[in-house]
Amino acid sequence: MIQFLIILVVVFVIYVLWKYWALSVGAGYDPAPMDKVHKMLELARVTSDDTVFDLGCGDGRVLITAAKIYGAHAVGIEIDPLRFLFAWLMVLASGQSRRVKIMFGNFFTKEIGGATVIVLFLYGPTNNRLKEKLRRELRPGTRIVSYVWEFEGWQMADSLPEDTIYMYVI
Ligand SMILES: C[S@@+](CC[C@H](N)C(=O)[O-])C[C@H]1O[C@@H](n2cnc3c(N)ncnc32)[C@H](O)[C@@H]1O
Repeated sequence: MIQFLIILVVVFVIYVLWKYWALSVGAGYDPAPMDKVHKMLELARVTSDDTVFDLGCGDGRVLITAAKIYGAHAVGIEIDPLRFLFAWLMVLASGQSRRVKIMFGNFFTKEIGGATVIVLFLYGPTNNRLKEKLRRELRPGTRIVSYVWEFEGWQMADSLPEDTIYMYVI
């Protein structure tokens, strides 16, 4: 009985540390609902000419949808090894490996200049920390679509306020 309790406590502590770590590097995991994924890509008017980057790609749903439905190329960056592995398997299973690439690591240190569309579902303070990188690396005309969180002080180009989806153009 006592061994079972110790295992339970250890698992709980690991879970809490995992959650806290995710938040400290950018945002905890929370998949965007599929209808919001479609709305984000529609708001950005994604086409087959686009390269969509999802910074913190979770299970890869934004990337797979951008490739499968909108014909875009898509690149995801994911720091959580389990989510990265899961997203990689999901892309494989979706048959979109030719169009979708997933990078393991921290989006703050990855090159994102190849994007024509950036999709984000992160955290307010993380969006603000990303501002300088986005301004520095993205080409003029690149669309940035953020779910839930706005960019403080940036002029919105378009939005779906009832869906808490906000778009900016570099
Ligand atoms: C709220 S989830 C969004 C997942 C996905 N984009 C979606 O819309 O369904 C945020 C994701 O970002 C990842 N993440 C947080 N900080 C990161 C960082 N610095 N570099 C790469 N990925 C990060 C988390 O591991 C998590 O999977």
